[in-house]
Amino acid sequence: MPQEGGTQDGARPTQAGSFAAGFENLEQEVSVDRLAVEGTFPEWLSGTLLRTAPCNCDLGRQTVCHWFDGLAMLHKFRFAAGQISYANRFLHSDAFVGAEKTGGVTMRSFATDPCGTLFQRVLSKFTAKWTDNCNVNVITLADQTMALTETRLPVVFDPETLQTLGHYKILPDVKGDITVAHPHYDSERNCLYSYLLQLGMKSCYRLFSIDRHSGAQRVVAELRTDRPAYMHSFGMSRRHLVLVEFPLVVNPLSFIFRFQPFIRNYRWRPERGLRFHVFEKEGGRRVKTVEAEAAFSFHHVNAYEREDELVVDFVAHPDAAIIDQLDLAPLRAGKPINPGGRPVRYRIPLGASATVRVESLSDTRLELPRFNYAQVAGKSYRIFWGAGTHRPGNFIDSIVKVDVERGQTLTWWEEDAYPGEPVFVPQPDAAGEDAGVLLSVVLDARRNRSFLLVLDAADLAEIARAECPHPIPFGFHGNYFAAGD
Ligand SMILES: [Fe+2]
Repeated sequence: MPQEGGTQDGARPTQAGSFAAGFENLEQEVSVDRLAVEGTFPEWLSGTLLRTAPCNCDLGRQTVCHWFDGLAMLHKFRFAAGQISYANRFLHSDAFVGAEKTGGVTMRSFATDPCGTLFQRVLSKFTAKWTDNCNVNVITLADQTMALTETRLPVVFDPETLQTLGHYKILPDVKGDITVAHPHYDSERNCLYSYLLQLGMKSCYRLFSIDRHSGAQRVVAELRTDRPAYMHSFGMSRRHLVLVEFPLVVNPLSFIFRFQPFIRNYRWRPERGLRFHVFEKEGGRRVKTVEAEAAFSFHHVNAYEREDELVVDFVAHPDAAIIDQLDLAPLRAGKPINPGGRPVRYRIPLGASATVRVESLSDTRLELPRFNYAQVAGKSYRIFWGAGTHRPGNFIDSIVKVDVERGQTLTWWEEDAYPGEPVFVPQPDAAGEDAGVLLSVVLDARRNRSFLLVLDAADLAEIARAECPHPIPFGFHGNYFAAGD
């Protein structure tokens, strides 16, 4: 049911329809040739939605502490001739294999210590590898399909069978341990951009590119830092790459001397403010660094040059408290949460000025933003979509369309339904920025079953839904790959 306007007041969900159901394990692996469908898929919708998600948090002897540490499962929805098939399969990463063998975490993870005795846990600080539990995003690169997390170990898989094939190799010249699962594609330069953080006595952000076809890798720019920030994504315009250092920072030595899981080493230091580092894609020169008041973000939306300024949009949280709110135990208990992310625009001067202007794009609370990437990535744009919080205290429970020029929002929601990230699929040969559909995996908590929802991206009217054979735990990201691409 699409509605004009922002969020509305309402009661917290009852336990029967609680979002807590989205954090239970999914053990079942299936392959279903044809899902039951209500409605009619557009004839032009021919391709595959591939997603990864944390789907198993109870490993046997150990339950992970944080949603982000659940073992990755791949989900495949294939559209063809008005029908849809579905399959899911665990990603057989080293983290998965280790968990199968030991019943616990065996690698350095986001917020969960490796299992074992106290001595083994301390020892693991020095010996355990960073995790390859790629439960965050799925991309294609140089004819390979891979799942990503925030380490330099993408896991390649077969997009037909979902069979795990091994690690994608980032070359030794591109040094670093921590990265983002949100690389950018540059269609003009035919390359992917990302960055790695090299941790140590002399820590360094290292922006790099990978040729989309040949896979050739190249360091674009480097920036030394004494207190690396936790950054889940970064910005890209046509000419620039933008690292935004949020003041959630770490003393690199704490990884050695503090016996804490990865994110627990970071500290919120609002006095540092925001630091925007702007780099030229061509040549890698750092154009400037400017500051603004403290905020935290997981997800950039878009960025673009406009006259003598750089527009950088992201979903801003007032602080980093959202990370702790996503600890597994309170989520599984269905405790109310307070997701405070709202889309904000930062206007970075490209000339001599150092004054950053800040504008609200909407008061609607949302996350997981997507836009018409093929058409407007790095360019002036008007529309994006996200997964919103319709009822205060609730988890993500709606899909939101935001018109950033007019400041208008449109919301889809349904009682006891919890949608995931809305993936925009452009209609071929259609010019409009919002001409296409949104695909979202929705958990019907009342029925404990998920469905794949197809909305008209322009007005959020429902086009069709396909019934999944089981409830699919909440996930983060995925992408649609058109047939023949
Ligand atoms: Fe993300």
